[in-house]
Amino acid sequence: MKTLLSTALAISYVSLTAAQNSTILNPMLPGFYPDPSCIYVPEQNKTYFCASSTFLTFPGIPITASKDLQSWTLISHAFSRPEQLPEFAAPNIPTGGLWAPTLRYKDGVFYMVTTHVYGDAPEEDTSRWVNFILTTTDPYCSRCWSDPVYFTADGYDPSLFWDDDGQVYVTWAPYWRIDPGIAQATINLETGEVGPRKVVWGGSGNRVPEGPHTYKKDGWYYLLIAEGGTGEGHSVTIGRSKSINGPYESNPANPVLTNANTTEYFQAVGHADLFQDERGRWWGVALSRRTDRATKASPMGRESVLYPVTWEGEWPVLQPVRGEISSWEFPGDGGEIPGLLVDASEDVDFSEVEEVPGNFVSYGVSADGSVQLKSDGEKRGLCLVAPVTSLPVPAGNATAQNVTRLLRRQSHSLFTYSVDVDFAPTKPGQEAGVTMFIDPDNHLDLGIVSLSGNVSTPYLRFQGQSDSDTPEKALVELPVEWRDGSIRLEIKAFNASHVSFSAGPTKYESRIKTIAVAPVTLLQPQFTGTAVGVYVTANVSRSSTEACFTTWKYQGDGQFRS
Ligand SMILES: *[C@@H]1O[C@H](CO)[C@@H](O)[C@H](O)[C@H]1NC(C)=O
Ligand SMILES: *[C@@H]1O[C@H](CO)[C@@H](O)[C@H](O)[C@H]1NC(C)=O
Ligand SMILES: *[C@@H]1O[C@H](CO)[C@@H](O)[C@H](O)[C@H]1NC(C)=O
Ligand SMILES: *[C@@H]1O[C@H](CO)[C@@H](O)[C@H](O)[C@H]1NC(C)=O
Ligand SMILES: *[C@@H]1O[C@H](CO)[C@@H](O)[C@H](O)[C@H]1NC(C)=O
Ligand SMILES: *[C@@H]1O[C@H](CO)[C@@H](O)[C@H](O)[C@H]1NC(C)=O
Ligand SMILES: *[C@@H]1O[C@H](CO)[C@@H](O)[C@H](O)[C@H]1NC(C)=O
Ligand SMILES: *[C@@H]1O[C@H](CO)[C@@H](O)[C@H](O)[C@H]1NC(C)=O
Repeated sequence: MKTLLSTALAISYVSLTAAQNSTILNPMLPGFYPDPSCIYVPEQNKTYFCASSTFLTFPGIPITASKDLQSWTLISHAFSRPEQLPEFAAPNIPTGGLWAPTLRYKDGVFYMVTTHVYGDAPEEDTSRWVNFILTTTDPYCSRCWSDPVYFTADGYDPSLFWDDDGQVYVTWAPYWRIDPGIAQATINLETGEVGPRKVVWGGSGNRVPEGPHTYKKDGWYYLLIAEGGTGEGHSVTIGRSKSINGPYESNPANPVLTNANTTEYFQAVGHADLFQDERGRWWGVALSRRTDRATKASPMGRESVLYPVTWEGEWPVLQPVRGEISSWEFPGDGGEIPGLLVDASEDVDFSEVEEVPGNFVSYGVSADGSVQLKSDGEKRGLCLVAPVTSLPVPAGNATAQNVTRLLRRQSHSLFTYSVDVDFAPTKPGQEAGVTMFIDPDNHLDLGIVSLSGNVSTPYLRFQGQSDSDTPEKALVELPVEWRDGSIRLEIKAFNASHVSFSAGPTKYESRIKTIAVAPVTLLQPQFTGTAVGVYVTANVSRSSTEACFTTWKYQGDGQFRS
């Protein structure tokens, strides 16, 4: 409530004192939207578009759009067909998969360039980095994104730049442990052929130069990069040169953007991109983690933030990232973009929808037929079938886990998420429930499960895995009087530090009982963010296990900005 109130006050204060300014409310894209890259495309109805990284989440690389830089709509995923990128299904570790994209537009075509990273390949092995371009003329359509055009680069964070003479350049970060710096080459976008590689800048002297983007203004080439690593030392620096090939001189004011060495709630600010609006004013985006200063809890992971940019002399000045920033008046007439708002609440009755909502994701590609919408027969709703595998698989094997999951991003600091499930386990290990999920090593689950020894008795079990600490388990017998109907399972982030897991009979909402309360410090996404959703598992047995979920509600209850 405090947050909402202070926001309202801030808006009225600004409107009284500076009619021309607006207040940016960060994060711009709340939740798991790291490494933003954004553009303004006047020819596409004066719309702003962004792409974000997704690691092992599928579909990958969400494209979001806005006409006013305030409300953002999820419009497509650049990677939505498993056959588009067969290597995505290979064994990987949770920090692998699709890393930072760059989104650009030229002559009617959208270009998305990114890297598929084999996280466990040896560091010196350049096959660790598979770089490619996807294109489309219709960014509102997932299946319209092309198959990849691959190109060779010995690193990650690729970016494209078109020079005035029509020559196109690709710029990337060679692996910093081996060759720290920013590399560049000419590229043929049709064939992926690259010219000779040249390291054009080593950065301002901080560690891990990465995330390059090139801009040209008044005869100067500007090279904006990230330095300091993506943790709390994250920062943005800039160099410039009269030649695209360098040498680049470092801005004496570097770093031009960082919250390192501060007590700000928005930490790890870095990996920026810049663009101009319809009036030619400059804006920037970056990633940031909202971090509790006392506990270091940052459950929502790496999110996207917005800030205004001014030019003082020949260098850009990036306004420091805060939860509220007084900035240029927002552009546009506020026109709506069809689709799902990234921070919308939702209430889905699966008997009434024809397809799985576009904001639902899985971890890795789910097996064919393991997620189905059923509208008739004995089982109805969103039905998940557990994978039938007899072998334990490594946690990073995204395509061959023993769990089928369907998730959505946590988009609010405080939220209430619930589903109704019909599930009667009959074999030991069969389990279905709700999860708060980062990756197979970091998740908290409340499920209905049957245990060996007393198969006929279903239990409610809370358990989880976490790299930071061991979650405390809870196990209670499912009350007999609840067993003849569906069960409501609920996850609630009810304050800044804790989340509760509850269950009750769908028919009698007042009987809902809290099964466990867990600290959010158990959920610390490294590169990604947290999601909530449903799962089904047969615990690596060969039994066929299916659970059907009938309703799904996600409600945002508050956003912390300080
Ligand atoms: C642009 O706006 C026009 C008129 O509102 C609409 O018909 C058209 O579909 C829009 N195009 C895009 C790409 O949004
Ligand atoms: C934070 O402070 C340390 C110690 O003074 C310094 O080495 C580092 O460069 C600072 N980080 C940034 C991004 O300014
Ligand atoms: C309005 O926004 C611009 C751009 O961020 C900033 O330079 C200026 O100081 C702001 N004005 C006020 C009165 O806050
Ligand atoms: C899935 O299998 C792994 C071992 O391969 C096991 O550690 C894990 O507990 C299983 N997950 C569930 C939810 O049963
Ligand atoms: C991943 O799982 C699939 C299916 O179980 C299996 O074929 C593949 O070998 C696994 N990869 C590893 C590294 O275990
Ligand atoms: C899952 O399988 C493992 C290995 O067979 C077993 O130890 C464990 O108890 C099972 N879990 C459940 C919930 O049955
Ligand atoms: C099995 O479950 C039944 C019914 O809930 C209970 O009465 C019985 O004590 C349980 N048996 C064991 C061995 O736990
Ligand atoms: C949140 O609630 C838990 C349990 O009720 C309590 O221990 C904790 O102090 C609360 N945290 C905050 C930030 O109020």
